[in-house]
Amino acid sequence: MKNIVLFASGSGSNVENIIHHFHDKPNVTIAGVLTNKRDAKVLDRCNKLKVNGLYFNRTAFYDTNCILNILKSLQPDLIVLAGFLWKIPSNLIKNYPNKIVNIHPALLPKYGGKGMYGNHVHQAVKDNMETETGITIHYVNKNYDEGAIIHQSRTEVSSKDSVEEIAKKVHALEYKHFPEVIEKLLNEKSSPNIALGDVDLSQGGVKQ
Ligand code: GAR
Repeated sequence: MKNIVLFASGSGSNVENIIHHFHDKPNVTIAGVLTNKRDAKVLDRCNKLKVNGLYFNRTAFYDTNCILNILKSLQPDLIVLAGFLWKIPSNLIKNYPNKIVNIHPALLPKYGGKGMYGNHVHQAVKDNMETETGITIHYVNKNYDEGAIIHQSRTEVSSKDSVEEIAKKVHALEYKHFPEVIEKLLNEKSSPNIALGDVDLSQGGVKQ
């Protein structure tokens, strides 16, 4: 059994899409959805979909081990930031190396960094008359939007596209690719890593 914990700050349409994707997969559980906004729409979606949703405030996140303790109890194989806008504190990054992934609504390294989220990103893409944009799924490190890239997908942008139209194209890419990438990462994490010390070639294989 694999556990996913999701973090989101707003609407949570990606969260809902991911929950639907794994609904009929008996080996994957959405262990919980954590949000930093008390009135985030994502909590309504959790209620509707019967998934544990939990709100936390800034103090709990940055000044206590509260979220770390909750994560320890949920035992995530993967922590997924799906529209989560706060920087992840270093204690969480240290405890979950290569287990926290984020989706960014642009082709990083373009249009990343502090303040670059949601429609701010799409507005910048439009202002710069880009002919394409896309999504980036990446590991999370201590800097905003700078961890190793796992996946990118692209879509064309026309000068006639409004910010909302760009957002729609990007969301379509997110809905298509994010659950697939998460599933692939979970499968990779389940393949046994055989350390050299475990292999006894004189006996013809892996030590029991
Ligand atoms: C998504 O487009 C996601 O890529 C973006 O927020 C949106 C959340 O939409 N994330 C960022 O901008 C992070 N910097 P949703 O709440 O409907 O899933």
